[in-house]
Amino acid sequence: MKAIATPLGVCASLLAVSVLLAQSRNPDKPSVDAAPKYNPSIYEELQKAPEKARNRANPLQNDPDAIAAGAILFEQHCAECHGNSAEGSRKAPSLRVPEVQNASHGSLFWLLTNGVVRKGMPVWSKLPEPQRWQLVRYIKSLGVPATAAESPAPKP
Ligand code: HEC
Repeated sequence: MKAIATPLGVCASLLAVSVLLAQSRNPDKPSVDAAPKYNPSIYEELQKAPEKARNRANPLQNDPDAIAAGAILFEQHCAECHGNSAEGSRKAPSLRVPEVQNASHGSLFWLLTNGVVRKGMPVWSKLPEPQRWQLVRYIKSLGVPATAAESPAPKP
């Protein structure tokens, strides 16, 4: 009996150790400090959209399926950095902030098309234009969570 029990015991402790290691390394573990601190200057790039780009209307503004399609695209291409519901992660800032939510559809489309490559935001010009407009509809549908809306700069 002892001959079986010992290898089993070794296996069990190895298992315990690997579980512990996996937990300590799991980058997805929810932690409060995962999202970067809110910092309006991160979003300055959006302000740089040329007027013509900024004023472009979203051709899918009245398409009832655009938001759902955008949500799928977001999960495929953006969630790994911006988080599953665009709340931000260590890799990329939240998109549920006034700077993004108040930006025009055209500005967001322009940003996706050009990226902010030097700061780690990829260029998405390879995505067909309608998909970029769908992503913009999705992002704009998210709004600002109540807590984030309260935290920025003290009210005048
Ligand atoms: C490889 C990680 C990564 C991926 C993937 C990614 N982003 Fe970003 N994104 C960033 C980073 C980093 C920033 C911050 C850039 C900066 O400092 O201006 C950013 C910024 C933004 C901004 C704010 C604009 C600004 O002025 O910074 C928007 C909007 C945005 N991303 C949308 C998207 C969308 C939509 C997708 C999917 C199509 C996406 N991102 C995919 C890393 C990523």
